[in-house]
Amino acid sequence: MSKKVFLSGVQPSGKPHIGNYFGAMKQFVELQGEYGGFIIIVDYHALHSLRNAKEMQENIVAVLLDFLAIGLDPKKVTIFKQSDVSEHTELTWIFDTITTMPYLMRAHAFKDAEAKNKEIDVGTFNYPVLMATDILLYSPDLVPVGADQKQHVEICRDIAMKFNNTYGETFKLPEPFIKKNVAVVPGTDGRKMSKSYGNTIPLFAEYEEIKKAVMAIVTDSGGGIPANVFAIHKLVRSEDELKKIYEEKAGKYKELKELLVEDLEKFIAPLRERRKELAKDIPAALAILKKGGEEAKKIAAAKMHEVREKIGVNVY
Ligand code: ADP
Ligand code: TRP
Repeated sequence: MSKKVFLSGVQPSGKPHIGNYFGAMKQFVELQGEYGGFIIIVDYHALHSLRNAKEMQENIVAVLLDFLAIGLDPKKVTIFKQSDVSEHTELTWIFDTITTMPYLMRAHAFKDAEAKNKEIDVGTFNYPVLMATDILLYSPDLVPVGADQKQHVEICRDIAMKFNNTYGETFKLPEPFIKKNVAVVPGTDGRKMSKSYGNTIPLFAEYEEIKKAVMAIVTDSGGGIPANVFAIHKLVRSEDELKKIYEEKAGKYKELKELLVEDLEKFIAPLRERRKELAKDIPAALAILKKGGEEAKKIAAAKMHEVREKIGVNVY
C-alpha cells in the first residue's frame, strides 16, 4: 500500500508567529516521513492583500526559509509555489462553473468582510474555490489546518462531490486534520493570536522581541494565576509542571513572565539560528522551491488531463 499524503497551503504574508507554528506548521514536520506531503506557498491567494512585487518576492523567500528552518525536509515533502503550477487557476475556472454564488456567500471570510462593509474583490469571494484546487489536484488524505480553515476544507469537499456527481468519480475527498488542544493559540491580549490583531509572538523572534511581547501580555489584577500568561506558557512547558509553579508563584506576575521569556527563548533560539544559516544561501533554497514546482506540475497536469477528459474538451 502506498503512503498516505498530507497537503497544506501557506500564504506568503509576513512573519509567522507561534500561533501559526503550533496551530499549523509544526504538524507538517510531525507528519512528514510517515506521510508523503505537499506544502504550497499560495502566492496567488495572497494577491488580494499583497500588491507590491518586491514585497511579494521577499515574502515568498521568507516563507520558504521559515519552513526549511522548522525542519521541513524537501526529500520527504514537496514544497512549491502555487504560481509555478498554472493548473490551479485553470481548474478554478472549471470549479467556478459548478459553484453557486449563494453557496460561497455563506463562507465565514466573505461574511466577515461583508459585515465590515468592505468592498470585496472577486478574488476574495472566490478564495475558497482556488483553495479547493490546491487540495484536489494532489489527492491528499489529510489537510492539516487551524480551526479557522475548517470551513474552507468543507467547501473543498462539497466542490469535489459536486464535480464527481456531475462528471463521474474524479476527486478524492480530503479530511481536515485539526490538532485538538492547540486548535486556537491565544495572543498577548487573550484573543486569538493573529497578525491582524498585533498580539503576536513571532516564531523567529530575537530575545529582546520575546521579552517585549511577553511583558506586554495582558493580566488581570486578581492576584492569582494570570490566565493569558499560562495559556501561552503551556505551549512550551508541560501543564503539570506549570500548575505547580503557577500556584507557588500566584500573584507574582513579573516572575512568571520572566520564566515564560526564558522558556520561549529555549524553544525559539535553535529555530532562529537555523533560519539565519539557511538565509546565507538563498539560491540553494530557491532551487528546492523550483524543483518542487516541477514535481507538482507533473501531478497537476495529469489530474487536469483527467478533468479535461471528463468535461469533454479533449477532442484531439
Ligand atoms: P493570521 O491570523 O496571523 O493572519 P493566518 O490566517 O495567516 O494567520 O494563518 C496561517 C495558518 O496558521 C492557518 O492554518 C491558521 O489556521 C493558523 N493559525 C493562525 N493563527 C492561529 C492561532 N492563533 N492558533 C492556531 N492556529 C493559527
Ligand atoms: N487558506 C489558508 C490560510 O489562509 C491557506 C491555504 C491555501 C490552504 N490553500 C490551501 C490551506 C490548501 C490548506 C490547503 O491559512
